[in-house]
Amino acid sequence: MGRNYYIAGNWKMHKTRAEATELAKALVSQLKDGKHQYLVAPSFTSLEAVGAVVKGTNIRLGAQNCAAEEQGAHTGEVSVLQLKDLGVQTIILGHSERRHVYKEDDQLISKKVKLALKHGFEVILCIGELLEEREAGRAEEVCESQTIKGLEGISAQELSGIVIAYEPVWAIGTGKTATPEDADAIHAFVRKVIAKLYGKDAAEKIIIQYGGSVKPENAAQLMAKENIDGALVGGASLKTETFVPIALFS
Ligand code: 13P
Repeated sequence: MGRNYYIAGNWKMHKTRAEATELAKALVSQLKDGKHQYLVAPSFTSLEAVGAVVKGTNIRLGAQNCAAEEQGAHTGEVSVLQLKDLGVQTIILGHSERRHVYKEDDQLISKKVKLALKHGFEVILCIGELLEEREAGRAEEVCESQTIKGLEGISAQELSGIVIAYEPVWAIGTGKTATPEDADAIHAFVRKVIAKLYGKDAAEKIIIQYGGSVKPENAAQLMAKENIDGALVGGASLKTETFVPIALFS
């Protein structure tokens, strides 16, 4: 199929600099012969420390968010210019915690996506439905809408800087994983949405990660599905014992 697997750890609001550095060092050593693509996304406060550890390795440095503006009077926000200065390569945008806890809407997310791409970052655009939306039979509709709106104004050329992460909200941090079949069905559907927007080749190329209670026990089964190209891992990315087996799955 020609797509590489891409395994990312989203450390969310965990770890001091010392803890983050220790984990990053262990990952550098344990993933050095890994065959897939890797990324870690520590908190802003640990980006510099972790960046120094992963620099020049096979692990990319990611941030978990950015501001929608380049600079200015935006108390508490972090700019793409500041992230670039720290060596960040990838920015996670539209995470369900940003959408649902911090009330980011599609318009704001789209603004951030455009800005991040303009500054040369790779973007992991997260999409995913709530439990009530799935139960109402609206999972596809929600994912289609978030995909279309998140990619609004993005050219076919810019699309090569985009990774999609399907993270059903009901599976995040709950221990409930989507079945590989259910996840693959949404991934296949999202690929069709991409094909409609950008053509078949682009749809074949785009990496779609799955996120939501990925663990060593379920990673290989998820990844075996045709349309699942990797994982965005939360809880299990905080320890080498759980992240390394996911990252080294074969
Ligand atoms: P968990 O792996 O803890 O369910 O989190 C998934 C996630 O939100 C990754 O971004």
